[in-house]
Formats: sequence, C-alpha cells, structure tokens
Amino acid sequence: MLPPAYLADTAPGRGARLAPRSWLRTDAPTLSLSGEWAFRYSPHAALPDDVAVPGLDDTGWDRLPVPAHWVLQGDGAYGRPAYTNVQYPFPVDPPHVPDENPTGDYRRRFDLPADWPAGAQVALRFDGVESLYRVWLNGEEVGVATGSRLAQEFDVTGLVRPGENLLSVRVHQWSPASYLEDQDQWWLPGIFRDVTLVARPLDGLGDVWLRTGWDAETGWVDPEIVAEEAAFPVTLRIPELGVEAVWDSPAAVARIEVGPAEPWSAESPRLYDATVASRGETASLRIGFRTVEIRGDRLLVNGRRVVFHGMNRHETHPERGRVFDEAHAREDLALMKRFNVNAIRTSHYPPHPRLLELADELGLWVVLECDLETHGFGMHDWAGNPSDDARWRDAYLDRIERTVERDKNHPSVIVWSLGNEAGTGSNLAAMAAWVHARDPERPVHYEGDYTGEYTDVYSRMYPSLLETREIGTDGSLAPLLGCSPAQGARQRTKPFLLCEYAHAMGNGPGALDRYEALVDELPRLHGGFVWEWRDHGLLTRTADGTPFYGYGGDFGEVVHDGSFVMDGMVLSSGVPTPGLHEFKAVVQPVRFAFAGGALVVSNHRHSASTADLRLVWRVEHDGRPVADGVLEVPEVAAGSSATVPVPGLPVAETGETWFTVEAVLAEDASWAPAGHVVATAQLDAGRAASAAAPAPAPARVRGWQPAAGDLRLGAAEFAGGRLVRLGGRVVSGPLLELFRAPTDNDEGGYSNPEGSDASIPGTSSAQLWRAQGLDRLVHRLVSVEEAPGALRTVTRVSAANATASVTVEQVWTLSDGELELRVEIEPSTGWPSVWPRVGVRFELPDDDRGPAVSGVEWFGLGPLESYPDSLRAAQVGRYTATVDELSVEYARPQETGHRSEVRSLALGGPDGADLRWDFLPDGRGRLPGFTLSRHTPQQIAAAGHPHELPASTTTHLIVDAGQHGVGSAACGPDVWLEHALRPEARTLRMRLRA
Ligand code: GAL
Repeated sequence: MLPPAYLADTAPGRGARLAPRSWLRTDAPTLSLSGEWAFRYSPHAALPDDVAVPGLDDTGWDRLPVPAHWVLQGDGAYGRPAYTNVQYPFPVDPPHVPDENPTGDYRRRFDLPADWPAGAQVALRFDGVESLYRVWLNGEEVGVATGSRLAQEFDVTGLVRPGENLLSVRVHQWSPASYLEDQDQWWLPGIFRDVTLVARPLDGLGDVWLRTGWDAETGWVDPEIVAEEAAFPVTLRIPELGVEAVWDSPAAVARIEVGPAEPWSAESPRLYDATVASRGETASLRIGFRTVEIRGDRLLVNGRRVVFHGMNRHETHPERGRVFDEAHAREDLALMKRFNVNAIRTSHYPPHPRLLELADELGLWVVLECDLETHGFGMHDWAGNPSDDARWRDAYLDRIERTVERDKNHPSVIVWSLGNEAGTGSNLAAMAAWVHARDPERPVHYEGDYTGEYTDVYSRMYPSLLETREIGTDGSLAPLLGCSPAQGARQRTKPFLLCEYAHAMGNGPGALDRYEALVDELPRLHGGFVWEWRDHGLLTRTADGTPFYGYGGDFGEVVHDGSFVMDGMVLSSGVPTPGLHEFKAVVQPVRFAFAGGALVVSNHRHSASTADLRLVWRVEHDGRPVADGVLEVPEVAAGSSATVPVPGLPVAETGETWFTVEAVLAEDASWAPAGHVVATAQLDAGRAASAAAPAPAPARVRGWQPAAGDLRLGAAEFAGGRLVRLGGRVVSGPLLELFRAPTDNDEGGYSNPEGSDASIPGTSSAQLWRAQGLDRLVHRLVSVEEAPGALRTVTRVSAANATASVTVEQVWTLSDGELELRVEIEPSTGWPSVWPRVGVRFELPDDDRGPAVSGVEWFGLGPLESYPDSLRAAQVGRYTATVDELSVEYARPQETGHRSEVRSLALGGPDGADLRWDFLPDGRGRLPGFTLSRHTPQQIAAAGHPHELPASTTTHLIVDAGQHGVGSAACGPDVWLEHALRPEARTLRMRLRA
C-alpha cells in the first residue's frame, strides 16, 4: 500500500487549521482532553483505515496516557526511544520517509459539557504532537498538522455536537516535518502536550497582545486586540497602576501611558496583573514593562546592556521525556537562579507555554527559539536543504508564526531565534522578514546566518577565546567564520552573543572564566548560553533490573550518537555538576577584590542594586573557623562598586589564615531562602601578612649502598624496595600514574583553533594517550639502595613497543621520627603529546588484607572536584567526604574527583583516621592534588555506564603533581595552552604518618 499523500507533502498542514494566536488564560470555557486514550500502535504507516470510524469497537485497544511519548510507555511494546545528533535516523530522501514509520492511532470519547456556550466557535488545540497528526471528530476529517513543539488549533465548530463526541488522531513518528526537526535530542513520538477543546465566543477575544515599553520611570502598553465589532467595548485594567481604558471599537484601541511603573528585568521580575475584557470573554495576563532595543553594537533592555549568563534548555526528564511537569520545570528554573543563571535559550523549540510564565515570574531573559533544525543536510554539503528550497517556504513561515504568536506577550522573551543549525537560505530570510514586520522591537537571532544577511545580532557557537576576542574588537579585522572582510565588518556592527559555548559534557567545561573575562572587557560581547542545562538520560534498566540512565545506543537504535546527549550542567538524576558550581562562581553578579586592607565590592548586575544582599565573612586557621561577622556595606547600584575596610583579622601564628566573604540573600526569594550564597571570594590573609614559609629542604642522605630493600622505616614496611605496609595495613605503591580515564572532552577530536600544540587537530587527546600506552605502563626496577634511615629506588616506566620512558626516583627518609617520601619524575625525550596527569598511585586493598577506606579529611581546595582550568568554585578549606562522595557519577564513567592544592589528607577506616599524608610544595611552590577512588583509571575508562564498573576491593589514592585541564573539546576548544600539561619533570614531597 502506498503511504498517504500527506506523508510526502511539504506543506505545514491542511484542513481546518486556525491562525496562530497567543496562549492566553481566559474565562472562556475549555475542556481538557488529557487523560487516558484508546491506543493502537503499529511499527509501519500502513494501518487499517478505521481509526475515525465511530462504530469501531476499540475496547480491545491498549490505553495510553495523553500527554505522553508512546516509546516511553508500554515497556518497549511501542518501540523505543532513539537518539541522534546530526544524522537523520531515516534515509535522506526529502520529503519522503520510510514506510517503516511508527504510527499511533488514538481515540478518545468525551461529552461536551451541558453548559458549553451555544454559538461560540469551538477550537481543538494541540499543544504538542510529534511529528505529524491527522485529526477527525465524529468520523469527519478535521485536518493534518505538523510542528511537533508548536501549538495548533483546528476549527471544529461544525463537527462538535452536544453529548458524546469521538476524537480520533493518527500520529506518525516520521513525516516531511521530521526533516525540519533534526535537533540533537531523542526522537520521542506521540501526543506529548495537552489536548484541549476551547470555546471561542463570537464576542470574545480572538487574540490579545499587550506590548509594553518602559523609559526612565514610566511605562506604556501598546495593545493589539483581535476581536469582532460585537466584542466591543473592550476594557484594559491594570489595577495596581489605576489603569482602566475602555475602547468602543477596534479603531479606538490605542497606546496607554501608565505613568510611573517599575520595570521588568531578569533580576527584578516585576509583573503587573492586567485584564482585558470584551463583552464575552476576559483574559488575565501578567505584564512586565520593558523596552528591548539595539543601539549600535549594544543590546539594551530598558536602556542598559544585557549580559547573558545563560543556559541552553531542552525539555527533558528521565521518565517523562519532553512531557511537561510544572513542579519539575519550576524547580529547574529555581535551580538556575540559585546558580546565577540569568537567561535561557529555549533550544531548539518553544517549550511548554507555562515555562515562559515561570520565566516571567522568576526572572530569566529568554531567547525563544523556533522549532527548526535541518542539520542532517550538513552531512551532505547542504544539498537539498529545505532552508533554501521554495517548496518548504510555507512550512518555515508557519513555524515562526506559530512561535511568535503563541509567546509574544512574555516580558521575559527579549530575542526571537529562527531555529538552529538549518544552514542558510531564503526561507530563513523570509522568517526573519516576517518577524521584523510583526514584532519590530525584538531582535532576530539565528546562528547560521554567519554573514549577517537577515539577523539583528551576531551569534556563534563554540568559538575559541581568540576568535571571541577578535569578534569583540575591530583591531585586526581578522576574518570571521564564513565572512569576507566586508561581511565581518557588518557583523562587528552588531551585538554579539554566544548562543552556545562551554560544552558541558562529562567532566568540564574548562576556561569559563576566560570567556567571562572577555565579556567583562569587551562590551560588544553580551555573554552567552552554555551547552547545555541538563543531561537527557532516560531512566531504563539492564536485563537484570539494574536501573541506569540510558543514552544513545542503549535502546537498540540502528544509528545513534552515543553519550553526546549527556552534556548537561545537571546530571539526569538532577544533581548539579561541579561544572555548574564553577559557572556560578565565574558569573557571580557581585565580584570582590582585595586591595590594601580593603574589600572592593562591584555590582555586575543589569539594573538591580545590592539592597537584597548581606555580606558575611569568616576567618579560618588551617581550615578551622575562628571568627565571623557581618560587613556593613552601603547599597551598591548596578554597574558601581564600593570599597569597605576589611575587619582586623586574627592571623594564625603558624599555618594559614583565610578570610572568606559571602554575599547572601538577606530575605527569602521565590527561588532560594534567605542566607543563600550568591557570590563569594577568599583572601589568603596569612600570606598577606607574612609570606608563606618555603618548604624545608629535603634531608641530605649519605652513604647509599645497593641493598635488598627489605626494611622498616617508621610506620612503613618495604619488601624488595617497594612499600608493602603502612601503619600495619597493606598499602602498596606508589607507582607512576600518567593516565586518567578520558573525559568526554579528552575524547573530543575538535581541532584546536587556538593553534595550540596541546592537541593534534582532528585527533583526540585520548587517542594519543592510548596510542602511547599511558593506560598500560610497565615498570622495571633499576636500583634499590639503602642508607641509615633511608631507602632509594629508581624505576624505569614505559609501555609496550615504546621508547619514551619516565625515570622515577623515590627517596624515603626517616628523620626525627618523620617519614618523608620524595618522588622525582623525570621524562625522557620523545613524549609526543600532553599528558593527562603526572602522579603516583597508592593502593589500599580491603579484602582480607585490610579494612575498607571509608573516607577522607583534607585541607586544600574543595569541596568539589577541580582541575587547572576549572578552579573558581574551589575554596581553601578543611573538608570531609566518603570515597563515593568524591566521585561524580557522570553518565559515561570518566576522570572525576580530583581535589587540587592539597596540604594534607587523612584516610579513615571504619574506626576513624588511619593514615595521614602531609604535602610539601615543590620548588615552585606548587602543591599536589589527589584523587581517591574505588577504581583505577583503567577500570573507569573501560566502563560505558556507572553500573558497568566492576566490584571493588581496593581504594586507590593518586597524588598528582599535575593534571591536564579539562577544556571543552567534546564540542569546542581544547584545553587552553596555560592549562595543558606537557611532559615535564616534577617533584612530589609528602610526609606519611600512621
Ligand atoms: C551544537 C548544537 C546543539 C548540540 C551541540 C553539541 O552544534 O546546536 O544542539 O548538538 O552542538 O552538543
């Protein structure tokens, strides 16, 4: 059987489709059709033609909830989710799709309420169906629609009847529209947002748009009311402002000056309740006064430059997929606010409409993106790309119209985005033209318009730091991506934003602070949006029932893109990653500097003062609190700073003194309780007073003699020159460790546009490390010598078939009862690439040879993991954690848990502290870091999911002289030069105690 013609039709839909309009709350009757529907699934499009037949007996059909994705229901009975990034999961044969086209037939009977208004138009609204659906009411065809994340209303006035009605819907997973919906996410078919029957009284409101503006104290409303003559008079009321405007006819509707009003901003999301009442219908809105404007290369809201500290936000939930849940969404946005996120880009489609009400209320700038991406054509040189093919023009225009019309009332929405990664072409230009005509105020964004032919802001994803600087300056007129010098000059006249940067996949991203520094320095740069907010893991189970968060390939997909969908700042479980803590610290809206005994407090906010904050401080000696207080600071206006004296600090006589200041919420906010820390900084007050004492020189040992190396030095026992016991428990090592379980960024093959020698373009660091055998080092003991109270070994470390080696000298000394180990790490010539780490590994088995290490107390940077290019959230302190708490459960196991600049650590067994390490800085004052894990880097690297890690009988302590940065090379720049770990000689010094 040939597929129905609509499955090869590029038109956005047909039938009784209504013009798009705002998603409004009105008192017109509605009937929710969400709930349980009869459902019949087929893996192909050729189904019996009876879905709409009123007499059909569907009692034998399955039941499926609406809203839901059918692949997330029924335990695989209705197919499974599939993840692809760029590639299409079907042949690229536009506009056709295969006959193997999962299709769901839905039926729902409903009674029209007895008091349903007679004479009203009746609309049937679908808020989201993936991807094409055909609708019948009482056996009569209503229409066909596409646009998965877009609302569609059908006029069913003539078809709906008193009493019982039968609604039938046939949904196809694949359709021509799928070519326009190639976003990097799960393919999740089904009716996944609400279905509602809506009465539209003839004297009611067709549509309402309350455009607002604000200028120096006063606000105004520019209303647009779509209504029949019969609906008038129409009254606008804003009770709090005493506004009541009555218009007798459509022609009378005009701008209303509201006088002094507080503006809306992401920081002070001041909303005013407004109603618009016609004869037959009253709509309730919450409006915010703000003016969006581009002046030169600045994007201004209410006259002030906006800096986006944003996140790309997909709609994703481990069990519901893209089905909206208000509590989850509210918490999502509140979590953003708690982490100093001030903006979202709704990548890459309009979210559930309620989300924007939450953004209005909680305060987030929104770049609202249309549901459009044709990225898969990019794999074929963009041949046949719908963006430049007139046959798809209507579909493109339909998408942007439904995007803008639905969400136009939101003060939070300040930029419209045409879509993502759809190449370029006249259909995109047509979308932009439509927006410019419809909403001249809000700028149009589309990253793929590299040369700036039809968009108002310049936007890029993942540019390097050097390119970002080039964009922010005119100096060199260096060519910009895809631009001639003249096109580049045009782009430099516009505000610039990073629609995506800092790919948050796995451990990382690094260098957030460097992007932020550029944004601070160069006002053309308006910040950006991290890719992305959340991992998209779907909760699933192994064959034996172990739950885990699945990614691409875990559902038997024919083609997929693996764990590339797990690139969020928040894990699928909802746990914020260390990367998000880093982001919070880097973008904090209040910044501190210490200068000559004073603290400079700078307010980096858009417009809010610091009146909502309190400054608290504390002093710690070697990580132990000794004093605290509150700092009296005058209110600091946005863009200003204030200098206050630092209180007289009790400086420790020995050890370190740290002064920590925190800006905390003075009162509860809707997104965090009073006391929530908004910004923080630390001052090394010990070193400020007296320079830290240099580490004592290592003990000079004389009289070395070759020896067997079977001896005891204090708490340490050695056999054959190797440590076997410490404080009576089995401890072996330390052995050189150069490997870390590659992070997603280490595995990234992104060529490094910085021209760095940190990586080889097109080859991932991890590939180079494996090729060199860093994960399979072997050892040869070269010499063992003893002297009174001392042991010295030299070991040559290398890998199979390699000539490059590292010579490791270990010198153990016992003097005045103090056991010290000095490790000299000396690379040979010939190491071709950066190293992931340079450290030594101790093993503490907990089978019959010793008790398990339960946890650690350390004094150093913490509390979370940190790496050389991600250190801003880390603070000097004294911390404790269990071994498991030290690791982050990234979706794909990888390097995790490194704590930097550690001064001392104590490992605890079940009965408390057992063993203690004190670290001495090396000759350049550098302190080591440590990792304590139940698995070796090699074991971690071999596991695809956390549950694949083997059972552990050993705790591994790695003391790192150095770690490579984390960078963003999973999709973006590699580790910044300064934080790349090149092979180099390093010294580790530590004192061990039992
Ligand atoms: C971008 C794209 C995003 C996502 C990201 C990588 O190119 O716009 O949707 O795929 O890369 O995770």
